[in-house]
Amino acid sequence: MPKIALITGITGQDGSYLSELLLAKGYRVYGVMRRSSVFTTQRIDHLYQDRHEEHVRFKLLYGDMLDPMGLRRVLSEVRPDEVYNLAAQSHVRTSFDQPIYTGEVVAIGTLNLLEAVRDYRDSSGKDVRFYQASSSEMFGKVSEIPQTERTPFYPRSPYACAKVYAHHQTVNYREAYSLFACSGILFNHESPRRGETFVTRKITRAATRVKLGLQEKLFLGNLEAKRDWGFAGDYVEAMWLMLQQQRPDDYVIATGETHSVREFLELVFSLLDLDWQDYVEIDERYMRPAEVDILLGDASKARDLLAWKPKVNWKELAAMMVEHDVELAQRERTLADAGYALTTNAGS
Ligand code: NAP
Ligand code: GDD
Repeated sequence: MPKIALITGITGQDGSYLSELLLAKGYRVYGVMRRSSVFTTQRIDHLYQDRHEEHVRFKLLYGDMLDPMGLRRVLSEVRPDEVYNLAAQSHVRTSFDQPIYTGEVVAIGTLNLLEAVRDYRDSSGKDVRFYQASSSEMFGKVSEIPQTERTPFYPRSPYACAKVYAHHQTVNYREAYSLFACSGILFNHESPRRGETFVTRKITRAATRVKLGLQEKLFLGNLEAKRDWGFAGDYVEAMWLMLQQQRPDDYVIATGETHSVREFLELVFSLLDLDWQDYVEIDERYMRPAEVDILLGDASKARDLLAWKPKVNWKELAAMMVEHDVELAQRERTLADAGYALTTNAGS
């Protein structure tokens, strides 16, 4: 019998890469998505549009992290072996504008799911395993560099505070109820599927549009913040590995390299033979009330116990995103030349 996985946040960046990975491993994959008035399945359309064998092993169900009864119904319908909780209001800047909503989805939403999983485990007798998408944002104002699983948390945003709550709840369900529950403390990970309001994708989209004459300026906030950026495709493999171990635990997943937003800008624009200084303007709107200045992870534990290491480095990641976004910009150029009006991202 194939294993069954349930993924919340299936329509997001990580949900799409994790679905591909699990389908390739022979799983049946069920995803929880929210109802929306517009299509939100662009990142996973390729998984069910083809009449492949995958088609019958991939299914979407409606659900919301704020609807505990609905989550219970989904669990009893799907009967999963593994549950990956990736759903979140995941934008840090937005969390300052919507702190209560972010707390409800990220913190209470995780608790809703943990409760549902515990009851489902107890009533079905299945040894269900749970993955929580924890975040390096929890380290916030860092007390040491690099950060490990032992580094204290010092969250600096409503999003990060909510992730700390969800992280501790996950640990507590492991200790209090013997649930096989793991947290992956993932550092920033990007890809051509990254949301366009996160800084790496905002930069690759803008630089490639500038190159093709579709955009003149790029407005950004703090260029000095440093992040440990990896490739999302590598990071979802670590999620899966955590749930295959003998015992549940928490792991830092990172590349061990950090770069500033300014360095990322320089790299991306230079790949397109452009000077970023001709196009970038600083805009206060993109500054945060409290900033995380530097993130740099030490993933030694994952390397030693999971045999995990990243395959794509920083420069390869930027090149992959630029290559993808050049194609996108070329399609937009063709539309613009044919007289269609283009919409641009409001950004955040
Ligand atoms: P993402 O692209 O923003 O995807 C978030 C997903 O959550 C989307 O599918 C979204 O659905 C869904 N969602 C939001 N609110 C929901 C709700 N109330 N009920 C059900 N689903 C809801 O995020 P990502 O980059 O894939 O990240 C995946 C997870 O890892 C998130 O929990 C994030 O906080 C965490 N994380 C990410 C990183 C990173 O660098 N990417 C690092 C550490 C941790 P819609 O499509 O309908 O909006
Ligand atoms: N989004 C954005 N937009 N960020 C900007 C901008 C801008 O115009 N200008 C500068 N930045 C800076 C931010 O201030 C931050 O220091 C850095 O770029 C990275 O911002 P994001 O790409 O939005 O990511 P993040 O680090 O805040 O959060 C991401 O990574 C976390 C893991 O550490 C998200 O994916 C979170 O969900 C995730 O948990």
